[in-house]
Amino acid sequence: MRIDILTVVPESLVSFLNTSIPARAQKKGLVEIHLHNLRDYSSNAYKQVDDYPFGGGAGMVMMMEPIVSCIEKLQAERNYDEIIYMCPDGETLNQKSANGLSLKGNLVILCGHYKGVDERVREHFITKEISIGDYVLSGGELAACVLSDAIIRLIPGVISDEESALSDSFQDDLLAPPVYTRPSEFRGWKVPDVLLSGHAKNIDNWRYEQALERTKLRRPDLLE
Ligand code: ADE
Repeated sequence: MRIDILTVVPESLVSFLNTSIPARAQKKGLVEIHLHNLRDYSSNAYKQVDDYPFGGGAGMVMMMEPIVSCIEKLQAERNYDEIIYMCPDGETLNQKSANGLSLKGNLVILCGHYKGVDERVREHFITKEISIGDYVLSGGELAACVLSDAIIRLIPGVISDEESALSDSFQDDLLAPPVYTRPSEFRGWKVPDVLLSGHAKNIDNWRYEQALERTKLRRPDLLE
């Protein structure tokens, strides 16, 4: 998979994408992540990427030209499955949409900044608009990291024990069951006996019941 991320602040994504699982996935050659600074696509002498909104009002709007130049340059090099715009008014990201995107080959992710992008970019270039929740961030960069991470961990081979991604919360519409590690007793607080029993079937059953119980209690909407 290849992910091209378009942003006015590429430095804000660097450390996240070069750490932990996204870093490992890139080293294994399972994903290529390319960051593009939109200022490099501005034809303006001041490398301007934003301008005042027509009709007045507070805040700046990301100009079409640098975004369109960057997208069209990338599209001339390869086909993209989706051109995604991270924005608070997009479709809310969930495990199902992350699963779907993890099967794609090439993705563009555009990060909004300031008051957002000129609406014509959304109308003519964007194929999917994604929000990571009902709150407003200062830019789409954190959201792009969240989306990339959610997708990358699902690519086969990225997580060494593939079981582990499959047993994540939400993967089967259930929250994950509780987990424990050594010591088996701490200040008198004990790990459930079944987990120490070595009885695989009983452990599976217990985990399933716990997942179901936890989902009923915390996220009954997932069971509907
Ligand atoms: N940009 C600003 N807020 C956002 C959000 N909640 N999700 C995605 N992109 C955003």
